[in-house]
Amino acid sequence: MSSVLQIKRVNKAFGGLMALSDISFDVNEGELCGLIGPNGAGKTTLFNVISGLYTPTSGSITLSNQSSKVISGLAPYKITQLGLARTFQNIRLFKEMTVLDNIKVAMHSQIQTSLLDTLIRTPQYRKEEARIESEALTFLKSVKLDHLAQKKASSLPYGQQRQLEIARALATQAKILLLDEPAAGMNPQETEDLAQFIKKIHQEKGLTILLIEHDMNLIMSITSRIIVLDYGKVIANDVPEKIKTNPRVIEAYLGEEREEHVEGQ
Ligand SMILES: Nc1ncnc2c1ncn2[C@@H]1O[C@H](COP(=O)(O)OP(=O)(O)O)[C@@H](O)[C@H]1O
Ligand SMILES: [Mg+2]
Repeated sequence: MSSVLQIKRVNKAFGGLMALSDISFDVNEGELCGLIGPNGAGKTTLFNVISGLYTPTSGSITLSNQSSKVISGLAPYKITQLGLARTFQNIRLFKEMTVLDNIKVAMHSQIQTSLLDTLIRTPQYRKEEARIESEALTFLKSVKLDHLAQKKASSLPYGQQRQLEIARALATQAKILLLDEPAAGMNPQETEDLAQFIKKIHQEKGLTILLIEHDMNLIMSITSRIIVLDYGKVIANDVPEKIKTNPRVIEAYLGEEREEHVEGQ
């Protein structure tokens, strides 16, 4: 198995707070890897650092899907062009646009026309538009969302909005996907549908996925390895069966429950 994402000794400080300390791990090609940890552990910060929203205070992140390239410090859109895309903890869709248009926007980075073509709507531009429309539809079919193509994104039920968001990330042609708590706020049926959706795109599209999720059943049932963060550090990196019984992991989650209990009083 070859590794496609290498995180080496990454630190991220916010003022005096070390949100990430000395994080190192690799993700292998084709893996569906979980990233878990109590609230505030640094999971989203790590995604922000990998996807280029934040620059690490120190350390490096390398993508080796095509050629090996250090991506830490690059702009987010450059990292997306190199094949890595993400979704956010809160849904970020173009809500007033149709499902199809949301996908077309994501494909926009591959449009081959010049600004002049666009302004005067040359035949070249129209040809390109038609090609993108048909590719967007084919893509929607491949993720079984084509029946929703003309629906406004905001009119979809929550579970389908989440699926659309994942589809849109994929439409950039990314092969490495970072999903930040996609099941947050879902009922058990939506969570189950989402698990099937993630499993399916993972297999059929040959993706490498790093998945942050609080729903333990979901994470345990679909990942082959889980990395656990606590207070910005990796405290475990193992197969799901071993994570379940790892004393440090149990302790970290018990700590969280205690805090919630105190907060709830
Ligand atoms: N932009 C920021 N500025 C300051 N502190 C931040 C910022 N982003 C995250 N943090 C802090 O970093 C820690 C990790 O947060 P986060 O990565 O969101 O955790 P998680 O996603 O695991 O719940 C928290 O203490 C949070 O308050
Ligand atoms: Mg988070």
